[in-house]
Amino acid sequence: MARIFVTRRIPGAAVERLAALHAVDVWDGALPPAPEVLRERAQGCEALLTMLSDRVDDELLDAAPELKVIANYAVGSDNVDLAACAERGVAVGVTPDALTEATADLAFALILAAARNLIAGHDAVRAGEWRTWEPAGWLGHDVHGATLALIGPGRIGEAVARRAAGFDMEILRVGRHEDLHAALARADVISLHCPLTEATRGLIDAAALAVCKPTAILVNTARGAVVDQGALRDALQSGRLAAAGLDVTDPEPLPPEHPLLTAPNLLVLPHVGSATHTARARMADMAAANIDAGLAGEALPHPAA
Ligand code: DGY
Repeated sequence: MARIFVTRRIPGAAVERLAALHAVDVWDGALPPAPEVLRERAQGCEALLTMLSDRVDDELLDAAPELKVIANYAVGSDNVDLAACAERGVAVGVTPDALTEATADLAFALILAAARNLIAGHDAVRAGEWRTWEPAGWLGHDVHGATLALIGPGRIGEAVARRAAGFDMEILRVGRHEDLHAALARADVISLHCPLTEATRGLIDAAALAVCKPTAILVNTARGAVVDQGALRDALQSGRLAAAGLDVTDPEPLPPEHPLLTAPNLLVLPHVGSATHTARARMADMAAANIDAGLAGEALPHPAA
């Protein structure tokens, strides 16, 4: 029987299954445990089931020398110091695939909502500002037939491409070796799907936004820090960019007084790309499978890259 700490209550039955075999401690708070609390609860544990809001760093790993496996409840692993884990022989697992379609659905919802001004229209109705059918009111941009640049065309990017095919969109796939600025200059819709690495931090900066069409829409369901948020605010404020839909920000949560929120034509969601009942339960199953394998000293079925 191993000791496992789960840093939040998660949907699905996977944690119950783990608890039938192991001593499982689940953090019951409405907010993540503070780093010092996480270190304390991790002491003596052989496995941790962590969220993207937990930092897995040297300090945590030093506090829990028995650790064999970290199962991160996310497809991303940018909250985990992978090199520090590798040095200590701690395996790190993630939850790919489980959330691909849910995140692609959300990216498409953001594309449509940002392009067609859905939030402004909805707010106007609720505020009693809808007085008549407006020939020039709440105008947006066509999604059908538009050119879509997928920045980081991996699993989720390809799932967005499948949806875009139904809208007759032209797809530009921009991987590490393609010319980002050339694609941005052609795109009507830009959707970000790259992991956060040192190479992609601030990838969409002032220079990148400067080459975008002023009618372009930017959607981010990847990681907030891929976008230079100051540059994004300026681009939206000056009309250099038509609209943006963000599911991810830096920091998370974004404080209500954050300057980014003063920008016009901006829709921000609280990082809900994978937030469907099915996706979150499947992510839990994958995290549990990673823990089972890690505790058994086997290769993880879903290792972090
Ligand atoms: C992930 O898994 O990395 C997502 O951003 C969370 O849904």
